[in-house]
Amino acid sequence: MTTTLRPINQDSKIYVAGHRGLVGGAILKALQQQGYRQLLVRSHADLDLTEQSPVRAFLERERPDAVIMAAARVGGIHANNTRPAEFIRDNLLMQDNIIDAAHRAGVGKFVFLGSSCIYPKLSPQPIKEEYLLSGALEPTNEWYAVAKIAGLKMCQAYRRQYGFNAISLMPTNLYGPGDNFDLQSSHVLPALIRRFHEATQRGDDSLAVWGTGTPRREFLHVEDLAEAVVHLLKTYDDEPIVNIGWGEDVTIRELAEMIAAATGFKGRLLFDASKPDGTPRKLLDTSRLTSLGFRPKITLKDGIHQTYAWFKQHLADARLTV
Ligand SMILES: NC(=O)c1ccc[n+]([C@@H]2O[C@H](COP(=O)([O-])OP(=O)(O)OC[C@H]3O[C@@H](n4cnc5c(N)ncnc54)[C@H](OP(=O)(O)O)[C@@H]3O)[C@@H](O)[C@H]2O)c1
Repeated sequence: MTTTLRPINQDSKIYVAGHRGLVGGAILKALQQQGYRQLLVRSHADLDLTEQSPVRAFLERERPDAVIMAAARVGGIHANNTRPAEFIRDNLLMQDNIIDAAHRAGVGKFVFLGSSCIYPKLSPQPIKEEYLLSGALEPTNEWYAVAKIAGLKMCQAYRRQYGFNAISLMPTNLYGPGDNFDLQSSHVLPALIRRFHEATQRGDDSLAVWGTGTPRREFLHVEDLAEAVVHLLKTYDDEPIVNIGWGEDVTIRELAEMIAAATGFKGRLLFDASKPDGTPRKLLDTSRLTSLGFRPKITLKDGIHQTYAWFKQHLADARLTV
């Protein structure tokens, strides 16, 4: 079935997959705040996206105008290293099921969320969209990255062969309220917020950060990402992938110092060089996003303070173990 372009407006029926996650939750909130009235959600327990038949039946029945794919199996270096089969299998299954079912159900707009880890480990910096598949991936998360590359290629293939209006967006590292603070599976920023908070509470005189502290990373507040997704949902209908980032990076040491300041940690910062650093630098080139009319607003300093305030208020219900 070839889909015809239908403008997205506040009456469009939009399914947000993964709405209980960091990204899906922020996108749902942004859509609600912008007056979208017909928002469709299903929890993982109600609809397992790795199962093909229920996904097809659900989209066939609901026939949304748009689908935003923010469900995925996500995690940091440790989780990727220890559960490679789950990372590649679950992500391939989920995205293949939902892309194919959305096409079959005549969905007019599909938004696929990838990640900056799709790019080669030693990409020139900042990373342009064109660098995709120009070199070897970072081995610690290649399972996840290969699945995400397959997802964006599937969107492009369905656009070319069936005229399916799918776009693929590649966010940098995200953070914000609702993040995963479980130390076994979380990303660096929420893991450090939790570790600095706990070290401050205990009155520790030092805290050891994984790796040398020298890798450079870019962080984007998830509310900025959500605004970008809604903007491109409405305005972008083309095959090329689009990076979504802040446009500047910091070293892990600088990040740790900002979090130490936000949490009031007074001890010494140590760096455990026996732990892996991952990619030396990862900064997205965001000129395509800028040319499409979007600029993020929340600075890293403000975002860390806001996220730490949220974490303290939600110690009882934050994702501390997953
Ligand atoms: N977080 C980042 O820094 C970041 C950076 C770049 C890109 N992204 C992209 O953003 C997307 C979402 O990431 P996130 O950080 O929001 O992850 P998250 O917080 O872990 O949320 C993922 C969501 O997917 C759901 N899910 C997982 N397996 C499912 C299944 N089999 N069926 C149905 N739902 C399932 C989860 O539900 P349960 O919790 O109930 O399992 C959860 O609601 C991913 O595509 C990711 O690549 C994230």
